[in-house]
Amino acid sequence: MLNLVLFGPPGAGKGTQAKLLAQKFNLKHVSTGELLRKEIAANTEIGIIAAQLIDKGEFAPDYIVIEMIKQVVTSNRSTVGFVFDGFPRNVDQAKKLDELLTENDSKVSVMLGLVVEKSQLVERLLKRGIESGRCDDMTAETIEHRIDIYDHVTAPIINYYEKQGKYHPISGMGTIEEIGEDLIEMVKKIK
Ligand code: AP5
Ligand code: MG
Repeated sequence: MLNLVLFGPPGAGKGTQAKLLAQKFNLKHVSTGELLRKEIAANTEIGIIAAQLIDKGEFAPDYIVIEMIKQVVTSNRSTVGFVFDGFPRNVDQAKKLDELLTENDSKVSVMLGLVVEKSQLVERLLKRGIESGRCDDMTAETIEHRIDIYDHVTAPIINYYEKQGKYHPISGMGTIEEIGEDLIEMVKKIK
């Protein structure tokens, strides 16, 4: 299996590039943010718990996102591979993903880290906030809080994958097409 972890701070382009990579390599795209927003839209029990946290830029509880990932992984055993977008987001989630994939006789192939300047992240997300009305994109304060959590809780995962020789940083600045081409080239080298 080809299992890609697309990594980076909020607004780095994970969702945009994950869709492209999934299409190119015939992989199943898994975005925990999108799965949570679906639960919120459907007003489920999980959605109600998650909404209060997400709107403020806080994480959803680990047990919720891990269960979601477990369901996707176990119900897509015949896929060529996965592109994980927005998961894992802390070291516990990274360990859990390894466990789940091992149970499936598989493993993370590579972690592709999109590197983008903070001012660019804030600019992209404020723009999307205006266009989409997404709550956690509405104010610079909430966006900066999300970036702060990324720096303190999520970025340490880099070390976890680096130790396994799986971390590959890539510039996430430039056009969507240019970044997409760079990512595709990198995946082809790994395959
Ligand atoms: P999630 O939906 O994953 O949001 P995020 O990580 O904050 O990242 P974004 O989706 O905002 O950015 P992205 O990197 O995907 O960039 P995108 O391609 O969209 O999570 C939302 C929330 O859910 C979290 O805050 C948390 O509360 C919760 N959650 C999710 N996963 C969780 C987990 N594992 N554990 C606990 N809680 C979890 O691009 C952003 C914008 O920029 C778009 O408008 C796009 O068009 C534009 N853009 C993209 N690339 C470029 C480019 N090259 N140039 C110019 N604009 C660009
Ligand atoms: Mg996203």
